[in-house]
Order: sequence, then C-alpha cells, then structure tokens
Amino acid sequence: MPLPDLFLQELKARTDISELVSSYVNLRRSGRNLVGLCPFHHEKTASFNVYPDNGSFYCFGCGVGGDVITFVRKIENLDYMEAVRFLAQRAGIPVPEEQVDDSMSRLRARVLEINRETARFYYRVLLSKQGKPGLDYLLGRGLTMETIRHFGLGFSPPGRFTLVDHLRRLKYTEDELIQANVAFRSRSGRAMDRFYNRVMFPIIDLRGNVVAFGGRILTDEKPKYINTSDTPVYHKSSGLFAMNFAKNNGGEQLILAEGYMDVISLHQAGFTNAMASLGTSLTVEQARLMARYAKEVVICYDSDDAGRRATARAIPILRDAGLLVKVLAVPGNKDPDEYIRSHGAEGHAYFKRLLDACGNDVEYRLSRIKAECSTETPQGRVEYLTRGAELLSTLENRIEQEVYAGRLAQETGIDRGAVLSQVRQYSRRREKNRSQKQFRQVQRELGAVGDTVNPEKSRHLRAANAEEALIAYLAAHPDGAEWVEKRLSPEKFSTNFTRKLYRMVLEKLKDNKPLALSDLSQDLTEDEVSAVSGILARHHSVPAGRRDAEEYIEIIEQEAGRLSEEALRTASEEELMKQLQTLRERKK
Ligand code: UTP
Ligand code: MN
Repeated sequence: MPLPDLFLQELKARTDISELVSSYVNLRRSGRNLVGLCPFHHEKTASFNVYPDNGSFYCFGCGVGGDVITFVRKIENLDYMEAVRFLAQRAGIPVPEEQVDDSMSRLRARVLEINRETARFYYRVLLSKQGKPGLDYLLGRGLTMETIRHFGLGFSPPGRFTLVDHLRRLKYTEDELIQANVAFRSRSGRAMDRFYNRVMFPIIDLRGNVVAFGGRILTDEKPKYINTSDTPVYHKSSGLFAMNFAKNNGGEQLILAEGYMDVISLHQAGFTNAMASLGTSLTVEQARLMARYAKEVVICYDSDDAGRRATARAIPILRDAGLLVKVLAVPGNKDPDEYIRSHGAEGHAYFKRLLDACGNDVEYRLSRIKAECSTETPQGRVEYLTRGAELLSTLENRIEQEVYAGRLAQETGIDRGAVLSQVRQYSRRREKNRSQKQFRQVQRELGAVGDTVNPEKSRHLRAANAEEALIAYLAAHPDGAEWVEKRLSPEKFSTNFTRKLYRMVLEKLKDNKPLALSDLSQDLTEDEVSAVSGILARHHSVPAGRRDAEEYIEIIEQEAGRLSEEALRTASEEELMKQLQTLRERKK
C-alpha cells in the first residue's frame, strides 16, 4: 500500500539532501550543485553530484542516482520502507505505519532472532561435552576462556540437523532458517544445517545484532572457512568483523587485519581497535564505515605476497574514503596472530613497537617500489625515480607531493625540481585521461547504447534527447508546464519511457511548484529513478530557456511526423497524404 502523498511531501520538505549526503560524503560547492567522491563506487576524481534545487543526486561515473530515499536505501542498505522510517525519524515525523506492507521488515526481525538463537546454541555446544574438540582447538590456539566468551565463539556439532531441529522446536520455519542462511535445502527437500563440525565466529553489527557467521574447520581440509552469504540482514560487502568493539576503542585509529583469528589475537593482546574485512577484498562501503569512526587506519595484513597485493589494493580505497593510512608490515612472513603468539607474554609490547614505528602509505609504497628496483645501478635508480614519480602524481595533496619528491630526490641524488616536474607531467597526463573518460561516458549516455531503462531510445536518438531535455526544462520551470502542455501532446513522444515521464511531470506540476525527484520516485523503479536523475543531471549545468524549450518541441514534432522507412512501405494512402501535408507546412 503506497504511503500518503502528504506524508511524503512533508518528509521531503524536512529533509535537506545536501545536509543528508554531507553526513556520508565530503561535498564541496560547485555552482548550483555540490560535488564529491562517489560513495557507491571507487573513484579518484569527484563525479558524484548533488542537486539541492530538485532534491536529486547523480554520479556520472557509475550512473547511480535518485532522491533522498534512494540515497538512504543504497548507503544504509535498507529497503524502501526502512529508508522512509530512517528519514522520518531523522526529521522527527511519525510514519503512518499500519497502512504499509512490512513483510520484509518482519522477515529481517525473524532472521535476526534466528541468528541470535544460533549464536547462543553454538556457544552452549562449545562448552558442552559435544563441543570439546572445538574448545580444545581454540584453547590450543592460545585463546582464553574470557576471550572466547567476549567474542561469543561457538561450535557447530557434526550432526546435519542439530541446529535445524533446535530452531524448529522454537517455531522458526524451514524457510526462515534458509533465508537466514544457517540452513540450506538438501536434495531431499529438507532443511539441513549449513555449518557442522566447525568453530563458529559470530559477526555482530554496530547495533549489536548477530548478522552472520564464519565457521572454521579444525583440520587442514578445504574450505578452511565457510561464511554466511548475503541475507536480508547481511551484506558481505559492508560487513566488518569486530567493528562493534573496535569502533569506539581506538580513539581515532583502527587496525585493519585480514582474518578472524588475527583480530581475536589482537584484542586479546590489548589492541581492541582491530577489525577485519574477512577475506574478500576491501570495498568502498567498508572503508566508508571505518571513516565514520576513525581518522586513521593501520593496514595489518599478512606479510606474504597475497597480503601485499591486498595491501596495495586497500590503500587507495581507504585514502579515498578520507582516511589517513598506515601500513604495518609484520616481520618474518607471519600473520599478526602468529606474530603475537610467537612472543608469548611479550606479544603486546612487540606488536606495540611495530605499531608505533609503522610508516604511512606513501612511505610504504615508495619502499615497496624501492625494494623492487636495484638502486645501486643507474638503471635501477631511474626505474625507482620513474615509478616513484608516477606514484606521487596520484596524490591529490600538493604538499605531500613536494615532501616525497624531496625524499626521492635525496635518495637518488637527483635535483628536487627535476623530480617535481616529472611528477607534474604525469599528473597532467592523468588529468587528461580522466577528462576523456568522463567525456566518453556522457557521450555513451546520450547515445543510449545499452540503455536498459529506455531500450527504445537508441532507435529515436534525436527525438528522445529532445524529449529528455524538455523534461529537464519542465522540472526546472514549473510555470512552463501550461504552455508546453498546450503545444505538445504526449502522443508525439518517441519512446514509452519519455512519454510516461512527460505525463507524470505535467501531472505533478499542476500545483506550479518546482519538481523534486521524490515527486516521481514513488511511481518509478529504482533503475528508472537513476535514469531520471541522470537526465536532470545532464541538463543541470546548461540551464535551458523558453527558446530552447520551443526548439525541443519542434524537434519532437518533426521526428514524430517522420514516418519510418518501414512504416512508409506499409502506410495507407491517407497516411501518406497526411505526411506530405506536414512536410509542406514545414517548408513554408
Ligand atoms: P587466512 O587463510 O589468512 O586465515 O584467511 P586466517 O585468518 O589466518 O585463519 P587461521 O589462522 O588459519 O585460522 C584470512 C581470512 O579470509 C577468510 C576468513 O575470514 C579468514 O579469516 N577466508 C579464508 C575465508 O572466508 N574462507 C577461506 O576458505 C579462507
Ligand atoms: Mn592465521
């Protein structure tokens, strides 16, 4: 059941899109709009735009766009109703609850209960006779009972239906268990335990809900870990293990490790600001989450090749989320857990020393490059300089560039000015590539190749582009609706999508207020909303006047009057006469 229009208008009026987005993204003003780095994909230059005058946002890099509701849905991983509630709470207005379908919210609540009950169950098993192999394993890896309790670790017993039977007794349906991903449907059709014979690590979100599990096998068998896949309450791409503890424990600093055991070891040794991104490569969402709670992240991955590659990938992502980045290289090809344990009671002191000594990401990357070049030879020094300058050209901060150019110069005995001019040259090249890329992107969008929202557009490019421009004009000039409507009937539109939009816009503009995207969004799919914000965004920087609008109308009429080749062959005599008539009129 849709929400009442009045409520949505109120919600919209009380939510300032620039203020809302600013709490997640660093925005700066650029003319009438605001720009920043897109929170929905990884990018180095700002192509994410917020348009306060029509309440929309759009990213020219990844094509995501929409209104305040879309933004909250995407950034907080919520469904439509949850996003509405989130905004309503923020604005301090009550939601007309009883009329809405909230089956999705109910399912989420059930899944959370199931997860909590599952964690309790595995914990009880761990402490029972049946859990002895698991407990022995964890104690054997140096964990104390206190640590085990603190993290709520558990054991999934070897039976295939133990958890399922337990939860069925508590009146959860098989379907719900499968939705929660603690069970899967076996070939016989029955729900079976997903985890068995593994030590269990619950993943807890920032509100204290158990949202997922990782389970480790006790032997060398593969796969070593299995993890909950995405569920209604969990998205791997934004999950961070132990973030619930770490977020408030490090002052402004977080330690980013690779795995469950690393984090637990670090906590046990007193580094309670450690958390992990859990195997998958770090995502923009995870980085953004960290940036909400800290200024600085110390990457502390394994020191093997895979760990180094993961470090190299993580650095720019963290940096672009606005974080200061440091890299802690664990000596001796160990992971942090092994390193701490190898020092026994001295683990804390040893790790603390590494932590205090570790350099920032630029120093780390320069030292990696240096290690790969043999700087005793002239060729090696040239290679080091070239790759070093290339790296420095990626830094947005000029002061940083200067500082490290100085260091490179010193290390290689080259004039600092020469290094800097090399850096600038690379910067310019990078800048040029970037502009070309953005230009091609806009071209692609105008050309509508692979446009899934409006598949008809590519066959009627000229008309459809004019139709989009006219819609953007109307959104910005509500007083134009009256004369445009008189001049141009929706039948003239070349594609179903633009025709639908035109009708909607005219309808919504009846009360003569400027059109906000959220006026339309309730009647459109999420992809359609993105497409509309793209249309508005593309026409935002070059505001059209009445003259332009008249020209658009002319184009639309011309194109509508032109019968296609196909139609010409099959047209009746009457239609042909009509077509001839229009052509004559246009000639006059
Ligand atoms: P590692 O292989 O480094 O494991 O993977 P680990 O954390 O050191 O575990 P122990 O010390 O051998 O017990 C790092 C992380 O990658 C994910 C897990 O989150 C793990 O902690 N991973 C690894 C998986 O999800 N599945 C796997 O099969 C392996
Ligand atoms: Mn390990």
